[in-house]
Amino acid sequence: MKGMTSLHADHLDSWAPAALAQPAREGGAAAPTPVLYLQIALRIAQLLASGALPAGQRLPSVRDSAAQNNVSVATVVQAYRHLEENGLVQPRAKSGYFVAAAAKAKALALVRKVQRKPEPAVERPAFSGAAQGTRAPVSFAGYSPKDKDFFDTDRIRVALSRATRLRRDTLTEYTSSVGMLALRNAVAVRALHLGCALKADNIVITSGCINAVAMCLQAVTQPGDMVAIESPTFFGFLDLLEALRLKAFALPTDPRTGVSLPALQLALETQPIKALLLVPTLSNPLASVMPLTQKRALARMVAQYKVPLIEDVVFNDLLASDARRRAVKAYDTEGWVMTCGSFAKTVSPGIRLGWVEAGRWSHEIATLKRVQGASTNAVLEYALADLLTQGSYEAHLRRLCERMKQRLGQARKIIQTHFPVGTQVNDPPAGYTLWVALPEAVDSMDLFSVCRAQGITVGPGQIFCASHKYKHCLRLSFAGAWGAPEQAALAEVGQLARRLQEGTLTASESQTVEASRMDFMCRDDVTAHDLW
Ligand SMILES: Cc1ncc(COP(=O)(O)O)c(C=O)c1O
Repeated sequence: MKGMTSLHADHLDSWAPAALAQPAREGGAAAPTPVLYLQIALRIAQLLASGALPAGQRLPSVRDSAAQNNVSVATVVQAYRHLEENGLVQPRAKSGYFVAAAAKAKALALVRKVQRKPEPAVERPAFSGAAQGTRAPVSFAGYSPKDKDFFDTDRIRVALSRATRLRRDTLTEYTSSVGMLALRNAVAVRALHLGCALKADNIVITSGCINAVAMCLQAVTQPGDMVAIESPTFFGFLDLLEALRLKAFALPTDPRTGVSLPALQLALETQPIKALLLVPTLSNPLASVMPLTQKRALARMVAQYKVPLIEDVVFNDLLASDARRRAVKAYDTEGWVMTCGSFAKTVSPGIRLGWVEAGRWSHEIATLKRVQGASTNAVLEYALADLLTQGSYEAHLRRLCERMKQRLGQARKIIQTHFPVGTQVNDPPAGYTLWVALPEAVDSMDLFSVCRAQGITVGPGQIFCASHKYKHCLRLSFAGAWGAPEQAALAEVGQLARRLQEGTLTASESQTVEASRMDFMCRDDVTAHDLW
């Protein structure tokens, strides 16, 4: 439940217009808070809306509730009466207050009206990706490789047990907050493949790449600041900007060569941009790779405008050669690039370890890491260091790369055969995903709904940007199982897209689409995290 402290009188107006706010405290500076009985009433309404208090359930007694909330009995009585007036609860003689029959829907409407929403950095449809239907679910949505063929689970197991045996001491101690030197050294050696000579001393180990990106944003921005991003971009970035109360400035991005540098330069000259957050190598969802000349120019530009670039290199290792993997950081001579990576896409997403080399902000990041929860898990760090330094890691990357090339080729053929005429699909050099532009008449959110009813999940284009620009696009991921059932399911997605375009859905499919539209509208607390 969202905290009571986030509720302000102006958001409660439509529920209870009269005398909501207590007078501002002496000095008049404090924001008005809703009067106590309304705070309590709203908290209960939120429980009703979430379904935690079902119809017919008795509310806590007035006396208990007063004790729990540290308020007077009279305040609780007033709160319960308020709920009664709004049809959410009913009193029963000598028994107390009970949840009314249709309370959930009414409470949901009320809570939606009064709940304060954070200033949105972005307006996007809320979205939930769980597949329904009777078939074994097929997911083309998640970017996390799930297929066990992608990861060498036996090697991971061996490395973990070796680390537990050899570094038993770390199980009973607090360890270095910036991460164990063995892993920082291993990351520095891996960074050579990105063309970067990093010092282990400047590397901080994090809980994955997103955690590294979050710390970089915290180090270089304040709430309300503007951050330039690619369009379309990874929805996790949009969620992060929103959570940190940052504004997104979306830059046009070429499906092959990445973000437009002339557009970026114009933005840097005309907008108060405080940081750039980009994935120059195998961006998500476009899988664009910036040519090296552009990477060099980008490094120069951020130094010239003195704006930090948060560079996400989580996908660089998926490319076949070091030349293509090269990061913008390789051209950074003045420390304006903050590089964030992890091994979630190549070793294991579950290990939850990443890293950051933050250039000028290395010290700030080390401090943030320490104050936000000290060290990551040392045994896992040792195991990961072990895995990265085994010669087999490069061989594993080559196998991954080959396998994906094959899969993406097969998937592209199916798309070209079964999707509506006019569909375009990219041809990325590596990675796990394809970006598909359907004819404009096909709404990818509707397609998502009809597919979900058939047990298939896809990534609708809208979740990758702040506008409706990619309404007709899909990101399809092939990091899960890939056999005959998945290939048939992909063809089925295409056929459903055709029927959506032609308007030939069955009555029950049309109903599914309508119902889902309502569902998405109602679920603005649901984000797209389940796509990871
Ligand atoms: C661009 C990008 N960065 C980071 C991540 C996640 O990285 P991690 O799991 O290490 O936090 C993803 C996941 O898909 C991603 O697309």
